[in-house]
Amino acid sequence: MKKIVLFTVLAASLSFASGVKPVDNQLYKKECTSCHFGFQAGLLPARSWSKLMNNLENHFDTDASLDKKDRKLLVDYLVKNASDRAMNYKRSAKITNSIYKNSTPIRITKTPYFIRKHDELRANMIKQKEVGSLSNCIACHTTANKGIYSERAINIPNYGRWE
Ligand code: HEC
Ligand code: HEC
Repeated sequence: MKKIVLFTVLAASLSFASGVKPVDNQLYKKECTSCHFGFQAGLLPARSWSKLMNNLENHFDTDASLDKKDRKLLVDYLVKNASDRAMNYKRSAKITNSIYKNSTPIRITKTPYFIRKHDELRANMIKQKEVGSLSNCIACHTTANKGIYSERAINIPNYGRWE
């Protein structure tokens, strides 16, 4: 009996703690997933989201500006679910801990944890048209929409599974 209880608790905490929390905000899905993959809030710390959301007019050479009300709703959502507020999720904790306290990256792909995890990829794997750039998470991580980035769910177009 004890064993069963222990196993159940362990299984529950494991599934809860892996990956990052999936996007669960309709406005975010509407406004922030039309140009690219919908990056989960738990992929960057709160200060990064604040900085990014303060300059949507110059958003990586595009204009992604919103009206005041929507911008405020989305900053609140992103900050509340940011990586440093979701430390019970394994990936969020790793990203948070990898960033220097005095740095505020606005790209997930510029965080030390991300760079470390992707340094073995060859340029051809990234530059091909099915991928384009490392920001295109869903091109290789087949379960990225669920916030799951485990090695078991990676399939690189034209190169196959990563093992
Ligand atoms: C008009 C198109 C557009 C919209 C709308 C848009 N973005 Fe972007 N976003 C871009 C482009 C272009 C890039 C740069 C992509 C690249 O370098 O491959 C980018 C990059 C990003 C990155 C950095 C990804 C990385 O490389 O780590 C984040 C984070 C991001 N956007 C968040 C948002 C959020 C949050 C919203 C909603 C408020 C949003 N974007 C809406 C065009 C857009
Ligand atoms: C070109 C394909 C590709 C793209 C695009 C890509 N990744 Fe990855 N990612 C990989 C591969 C391959 C690994 C496994 C590296 C290793 O550990 O050997 C990986 C590893 C990871 C890991 C660690 C997994 C683990 O089990 O340790 C995370 C987290 C991750 N990626 C998140 C992202 C996010 C978030 C994005 C988008 C901003 C992204 N990746 C874009 C290919 C990609």
